[in-house]
Amino acid sequence: MIRAKITGTGSAFPDKVLTNCDIEKLVDTSDDWITSRTGIKERRVAVEGEYTSTFASRAAENALQMAGITAAEIDLIIVGTITPDFPFPATACLVQNNLKASKAAAFDVAAACSGFLYGLSVADKFIKTGAAKKALVIGAEVLTRIVDWDDRNTCCLFGDGAGAVVLEAVSGDAGILSTHIHSDGTYWELLHQPGCGSRNPASQKTLDDKQIFLRMQGNEVFKLAVRAMEDAAHEALAANGMTAADLNLFIPHQANRRIIDAIGKRLGVSDEQLFVNLERYGNTSAASIPIALDEANRTGRIKSGDIVLFDAFGGGLTWASALVRW
Ligand code: COA
Repeated sequence: MIRAKITGTGSAFPDKVLTNCDIEKLVDTSDDWITSRTGIKERRVAVEGEYTSTFASRAAENALQMAGITAAEIDLIIVGTITPDFPFPATACLVQNNLKASKAAAFDVAAACSGFLYGLSVADKFIKTGAAKKALVIGAEVLTRIVDWDDRNTCCLFGDGAGAVVLEAVSGDAGILSTHIHSDGTYWELLHQPGCGSRNPASQKTLDDKQIFLRMQGNEVFKLAVRAMEDAAHEALAANGMTAADLNLFIPHQANRRIIDAIGKRLGVSDEQLFVNLERYGNTSAASIPIALDEANRTGRIKSGDIVLFDAFGGGLTWASALVRW
């Protein structure tokens, strides 16, 4: 049986670090509030001249290097992002150009924080059907460019960066065992960016009304996130005849430590099974799972044969899971 196997991982970030103490100088908040309510201590922030494609391309180069293949061999590039360099062309096309991945088809997936797992699911299908042999799936965001730095409810939550994986068609037991993706558009208003699309095109009004920034009803999102991510995890395990006890590593979307702990508790996952690094990066949306995966991989937390579960939730609403045998 042909499976899509992750043969390389990579990540990339801005050098600039913004700590909770730095945010205390911008809005009425405290390190103590942010740490206790979210688990976040600091985040990376892109500076002038750095874009989503900058980090996406660097993360992809690192993943290609680990896989030991060249960009010219890649058939497909998918970038999960809601902060593309431009409305069009796709950031994936800019990455293709940066990498000189001349034969790759390239497109973006807009599924907010579930974007990487949506991309992984699409690439998995391309590989299983034989339509592609080698693919790059990237999650990349520069969310700090759509954050309202006067809004204490949101400005402390998000950060910038990118993570990438190389997928290759292999025969055998290792690779992606399943992916599941879901959406519920009835909740679209809970987390969205009102301006700069066809409904509220860029204008003086969109600037004055701060429609260019993301808006979130954090409390509602919190409750729905816990429920949807728990369901997605159970769905992935059940589809493969497994339980949480079979997991060597659980890598959830890194949005909020309290969301992660609530899901971990409901699933019965131990601290040893759980991977968390949001204290250093904040919520990097589509980038959070591949960034965490790259760190887990490079620090030896994943061994050949391990069962790894990815679980995400985001605006849309969207949610998704993927189960992998490493
Ligand atoms: N510093 C200090 N106080 C803050 C604050 C900040 N940075 N942000 C919000 N507050 C205040 C609110 O104004 C509110 O004050 P009020 O009661 O006087 O109105 C109070 O804290 C409680 O707000 P609430 O929204 O109930 O807090 P919370 O415990 O739900 O935590 C979030 C807020 C945003 C951290 C939390 O809801 C959350 O993480 N939601 C999910 C967000 C997320 O992960 N989104 C992406 C999903 S992919």
